[in-house]
Amino acid sequence: MESIWSKTWNRKKRAALTGEQKTDVVVIGGGMAGILTAWRLMQAGVDVVVLEANRVGSGQTENTTAKITSQHGMFCHAFLEKKGEEIAGKYVQANQAAVEEYKRIVQEEDIDCDFNVCDSYVYSKDVEKLEQETEAAKKLGVDAVFEKQIEIPVSCAGAVRFPGQAQFHPLKFIDALAGSLNIYEDTLVKEVEEHLVKTDGGSVKADYIVFATHFPFVNFPGMYFARMHQERSYALALEDAGTLHGMYIGDGDDTLSFRQYGPYILLGGQAHRVGENQEGGRYERLKKAARKCYPSSCVMAFWSAQDCITTDKIPFIGQYADDRPNWFAATGFQKWGMSSAMVSAMLLTDRICGLENPYAEVFTPSRFSLEEIPQLVTDSGQAVKGLTKRFFKLPDETVSGLKPGHGAVVETLEGKAGVYKTEEGEIHQVDIVCPHLGCELTWNPDERSWDCPCHGSRFDYKGNLMDGPAQEGIHDV
Ligand code: FES
Repeated sequence: MESIWSKTWNRKKRAALTGEQKTDVVVIGGGMAGILTAWRLMQAGVDVVVLEANRVGSGQTENTTAKITSQHGMFCHAFLEKKGEEIAGKYVQANQAAVEEYKRIVQEEDIDCDFNVCDSYVYSKDVEKLEQETEAAKKLGVDAVFEKQIEIPVSCAGAVRFPGQAQFHPLKFIDALAGSLNIYEDTLVKEVEEHLVKTDGGSVKADYIVFATHFPFVNFPGMYFARMHQERSYALALEDAGTLHGMYIGDGDDTLSFRQYGPYILLGGQAHRVGENQEGGRYERLKKAARKCYPSSCVMAFWSAQDCITTDKIPFIGQYADDRPNWFAATGFQKWGMSSAMVSAMLLTDRICGLENPYAEVFTPSRFSLEEIPQLVTDSGQAVKGLTKRFFKLPDETVSGLKPGHGAVVETLEGKAGVYKTEEGEIHQVDIVCPHLGCELTWNPDERSWDCPCHGSRFDYKGNLMDGPAQEGIHDV
């Protein structure tokens, strides 16, 4: 599985950190949020070091659909009702400012990244909802328009249009900015003390530490694991599907996302909570939707992405925890990683440079509101469910009965283990206790991975770490 972005761009490779360094700010994570934050800090005259566990853009950035928009689904009316006009308005304005900042950077830095200004749309079958959303968006300062006719082949009553949004090739963009930064790759952070970041090869001492790691991996303080869950979604790049002028997303759970990139239409959907895909078939269902929408199309790339979802649907951007005034977090971007990454970069740069940011209170990780409690209970319930799954009735597959290319949880003399049989018949057996906080992993047949239903860590069939918050792989047993 390789995204359209990875298939169409060759990244530069950088050296790993060795020895000791000292700097003003160390940014952990070389994805869009980390690189944008480091780049803006550098522009402000701050000395920055970026530490990336793998390669620049190799986490969620290479798996995004790369829509840059302040239209985060059908959210304006709901935000107005729940959070009031001031918070909802600031949320939209922060994201619109992020869209404008992308336009400014691309133009002023003359970045060749297939950047394209276009409108974004959220479609629905419910006319009343569309009208309500259009009015709410206008109230929050967006020139939103209710369009009865749209160009995508879905059954709907129309869509709400946000003008002047954008789309691009995220790896071309991030590579252009990364060229001027001090970045170390293949550098996994093992430990963070108050002003010190340690890796296997060295350490960096800094006045400030920014965690731009998708999911913050220091459990205490912060407790981000108790305030977010993770979801996966899937995408196809379709050839011979025609041309779209806008970016689209549907309202509701079983929804589709559309955008154009070059000759391809990118179709996304089939989202589910991590750890809840034991039946599989996600790509098949998405391909079925593609055949329905674009019968003569064919798939030239398919891939998946992972998103952190906060309890109140607003990212955590700001001080990591009350007793860590020099640590900052940028996480919980939901499905809106590009605009949220820029909001993070703008807000954290202001904060570190001692400037006021008008949106800081909206995104502060220290916020807590009563409306979050039901979701918090759901998420905590999920975590308990994951932990107690270890005592549930076991499936009766045996290693010998396992088909090639399949994985399963089986009983061994030592207890439950995860087993995968390759197409060649080779057996890989792993411990299925998640090294993050001990939940039991489940098999994801679509991606041949072991996934944690609690906080979303993932491991390949050999046990290697794919997604955090876990910091290490699972073991052969
Ligand atoms: Fe937290 Fe697995 S990710 S227990």
